[in-house]
Amino acid sequence: MRDNRLVTDIKSSLDIAEVIGQFTSLRRTLRGYSGLCPFHDEKTPSFHVYSDTQTYYCFSCHEAGDIFTFIMKKNGLTFSEAVEVLAGQAGIDLSKYKVSSSPKRSRSLFDVMNLAGEYFRECFRRLPGGKAYFLRRGFTENDAEVFGLGYAPDSWDGLIHSLRQKGVSDKELVDTGLVSQGERGIYDRFRGRLIFPVKDLSGRIIAFGGRTIAGSQAKYINSPESELYRKRSNLYLIDKASSKIRESGFSILCEGYMDALRLHKSGFTQAVASLGTSLTAEQAGLLKRFADRCYICYDTDSAGVAASIRGMYILLQSGLDVRVVRLPEGKDPDDFLSANPPEKFSKALDESLSLIDFHIETLRPMLSDPLRRKRAVNELWEGVKKIDPYEALRYLGSLSNAFGLPHDEIQRKILGENPQESQLVKINSPDSVPIDNGLDCAFCSLLMKYKECRLAVKPDEIRGLLADEDAIITAEAILNDDPEKLMNLWLTIGDDTRVAIIAKGDIFLSGIKGSTWQEKLETIRSDLKAQKLKRRIRTLKEKLKVNTASLEEANEFMELRLKLQKLKI
Ligand code: UTP
Ligand code: MN
Repeated sequence: MRDNRLVTDIKSSLDIAEVIGQFTSLRRTLRGYSGLCPFHDEKTPSFHVYSDTQTYYCFSCHEAGDIFTFIMKKNGLTFSEAVEVLAGQAGIDLSKYKVSSSPKRSRSLFDVMNLAGEYFRECFRRLPGGKAYFLRRGFTENDAEVFGLGYAPDSWDGLIHSLRQKGVSDKELVDTGLVSQGERGIYDRFRGRLIFPVKDLSGRIIAFGGRTIAGSQAKYINSPESELYRKRSNLYLIDKASSKIRESGFSILCEGYMDALRLHKSGFTQAVASLGTSLTAEQAGLLKRFADRCYICYDTDSAGVAASIRGMYILLQSGLDVRVVRLPEGKDPDDFLSANPPEKFSKALDESLSLIDFHIETLRPMLSDPLRRKRAVNELWEGVKKIDPYEALRYLGSLSNAFGLPHDEIQRKILGENPQESQLVKINSPDSVPIDNGLDCAFCSLLMKYKECRLAVKPDEIRGLLADEDAIITAEAILNDDPEKLMNLWLTIGDDTRVAIIAKGDIFLSGIKGSTWQEKLETIRSDLKAQKLKRRIRTLKEKLKVNTASLEEANEFMELRLKLQKLKI
């Protein structure tokens, strides 16, 4: 468990304006600062930083929170990672705080990887093998610098010697996977190979990949799983790609080291590589932190296409909007961009297919073969069942075409096969008007602040009063538990939704009419009620406009309008 002193110490030694000032320029205001919002594009400043509460709020996009949520959101970090970054800025020595069972140890393994990276880079500069190969593939020495490429000479102990001299122990060499264990002791894992450092989101080396430059042995070898390296949760070049992914709203996922490098060199700096392993929900989650859309650019003609489609469904199920890019047969992005200008690749992105359409396309030969048709239909159906039925309904046309069934039959099949989810479709129907949760947040923060207020509010009142589901959960939690304990818990586990709700609520609360908590509670209650009424009125009005309202609804509309007028008096 993280020591909460650390969080408090960071907060007290950093000023929020300084932290945020690194991302957008701020001007002084009465209560703090204001500037252009770093979370969305704007021409006039709606972003406010409050010195007294050390929080921020954007009046235009409604982002809100404290230094931790800011850094998490801006850099796509988890709470723990944000703590590390901010501790660094505050000049706080993390080792003074008991952070986890073995903080010192994993830090020193990062150092070992770093030393190995230096050694490989030095060999790349000094020796001909790796550099010659890299240049032959159409890259430059500058590319090698930018991406930290290295070379492992054809030696059994070059790295071992160099690192031992720097005080690295044999155990550390084994634990980082830099060496292999033979009968007569350890030897360098990477020999005679071009080296690619694999980094985590914050740019620390966690593994290496090595490509043979001679051609005989395995084409690539990679670091084994280790305390630092978990293949399933990482993506090559994510450290360099994350900000562009956020900015552009999409990622590009390819298979190999060379593909990712070529894409970056060609200006597609949203590219990351899965390194030939099958895709995981963790990798999907990593990408989804920055953008919902993902263009997958795999070799689609290979024998492994069924396996890669399975992986793509995993991404889709994790909520990514998956687009499949098709390049000419037998070409990976590296081949393609070595022979074509970037515009051609952009065009391929534009012409990408949804996963369902892509799946249908790969099954096309089977679908038109009477002997294999059934198998193809089953396979496609397996895929369709994996996705949200509401989403699946978007492909009625393609599916009815592929299955040779009329639309309503397919629709029934999609909804019928998922009785629970068909419920979901109804709930999601576009009946609701988007809500701004400022008042809901203020309600939560009022509860947080005043014990008497917690006693005055009934738990079953909450659901009827608040509209934002996250705020409802937060408010119910506060009524059930000690708020201080809760806040510590949220900060510790990095529950940024909860923390942001309270931070936003604090800001709203100061602007709410009333000098005592009772008065504020009254204002919030009646404003929330009015808001709810207005929302319902707006929905009814829409229905009346397009003539789909029932007589009862028309009557309800008139009544509610009167009610709202009374509330305003
Ligand atoms: P590919 O065989 O498609 O290689 O493997 P590539 O990326 O096109 O490499 P070049 O262009 O021939 O240099 C795709 C990825 O699968 C992993 C590597 O991460 C590789 O980049 N792989 C492949 C291995 O880990 N080991 C192998 O032996 C082969
Ligand atoms: Mn290739």
